[in-house]
Amino acid sequence: MGLLFRTFTKAPRQWRRGYSSHSDITASAMVYSEYGQPSQVLKWHSYRLPALTSTTVQVKFLASPINPADVNMIQGAYPIKPTYQKLSSDDDKLLAVGGNEGVAQVIAVGDQVQDLKVGDQVVMANTGYGTWRTHATGPASDFQLLPNNKKVSMIQKATITVNPCTAYRMLKDFVKLNQGDYVIQNGGNSAVGQAVIGISKAWGLKTINVVRNRPDIDKLRKELTDLGATHVVTDEDLGKHETRALIKSWVGENKPLLGLNCVGGKSATDMARYLGENGQFVTYGAMSRKPLSLPASLLIFKNISFHGFWVSKWAEVHSKEARYQMLEDVVDLMSQGKLGEPKWTQVKWDEESMKTSVDQGITGFSGGGKQVVIF
Ligand SMILES: NC(=O)c1ccc[n+]([C@@H]2O[C@H](COP(=O)([O-])OP(=O)(O)OC[C@H]3O[C@@H](n4cnc5c(N)ncnc54)[C@H](OP(=O)(O)O)[C@@H]3O)[C@@H](O)[C@H]2O)c1
Repeated sequence: MGLLFRTFTKAPRQWRRGYSSHSDITASAMVYSEYGQPSQVLKWHSYRLPALTSTTVQVKFLASPINPADVNMIQGAYPIKPTYQKLSSDDDKLLAVGGNEGVAQVIAVGDQVQDLKVGDQVVMANTGYGTWRTHATGPASDFQLLPNNKKVSMIQKATITVNPCTAYRMLKDFVKLNQGDYVIQNGGNSAVGQAVIGISKAWGLKTINVVRNRPDIDKLRKELTDLGATHVVTDEDLGKHETRALIKSWVGENKPLLGLNCVGGKSATDMARYLGENGQFVTYGAMSRKPLSLPASLLIFKNISFHGFWVSKWAEVHSKEARYQMLEDVVDLMSQGKLGEPKWTQVKWDEESMKTSVDQGITGFSGGGKQVVIF
């Protein structure tokens, strides 16, 4: 028994049971205690998992991806700051666990927990939880139940909350689109972009997908078309006269009313010009790290509205029920084969592989797709 248990004998039963004892599980995690280049600041940490209490649940992580935002967070360049904490009462240092997304399985529940049971699969209820770890113990409210569907792969579940949900919300929340309407997006080959392509196809929408040019562009064109992309154009071509004529020949009077911006800079400026009157331009990423520069005419004469979207904020301000409803819809699309597994590569769960992979997590031209750790 630890010190706190002996000292605070009047503390609530569950708290006394929890804080001062360990489970017999040894967990491992990729942690950091200061901002910096991921490979410099990330460290492997093994610790004894805190014991279950009557109000907590214990989960075993199954798979967690490496997303660009995870890298930003470790660099200290993300609006959500990490929670530094002692992962076990043996720890003498405050540590943050890397990663924000993942799927875990409930392996034990306290006797007062109502919403979750052993065997349930869960995702994180909020951004910043720390998912590059084998196990966690925490209040049930830290976790969001995932609809149970055996047709959805572990990779799809591990990567469901950030990219597919971002695509789903952006296609649903900014403008009412009807079957046959066009959506234009840059970063068309990003994980979000691929989810936009899949959901749009399922909902009868057409997509114009802007990607960076590359030597094997035809291969990428085919990959995206196979996913359901209507058209693929390169960022180099987007601003050209002949591309304007080409896109006009595709859309006619039915100009896109929704533009989704993953990139910023010139690509975003060029894309905004294709929106029709009263169109909605939604920025969710800034992969080029270049600012948005927009001609005033788009606001004055075409009344185009410019928005930002952040799925973390959406999840924070919406109820567990609203989040579950969205997950149900997305899981449904996945199980019907309408929203495929993202292209992915496995990352080994060891210190060196993690460091290398996290450094690469934001570099672009990642032909191998989303990097995912399988525990
Ligand atoms: N706001 C939100 O709620 C939200 C949610 C999810 C994601 N995001 C953001 O969305 C972006 C994409 O995330 P993801 O997970 O889908 O990423 P991802 O799968 O890793 O894809 C990255 C995309 O960015 C492109 N890219 C990389 N560097 C670039 C550069 N210098 N200039 C132009 N394009 C570049 C890549 O194209 P190449 O193949 O040409 O390299 C690829 O299309 C990130 O900024 C992420 O933080 C935001």
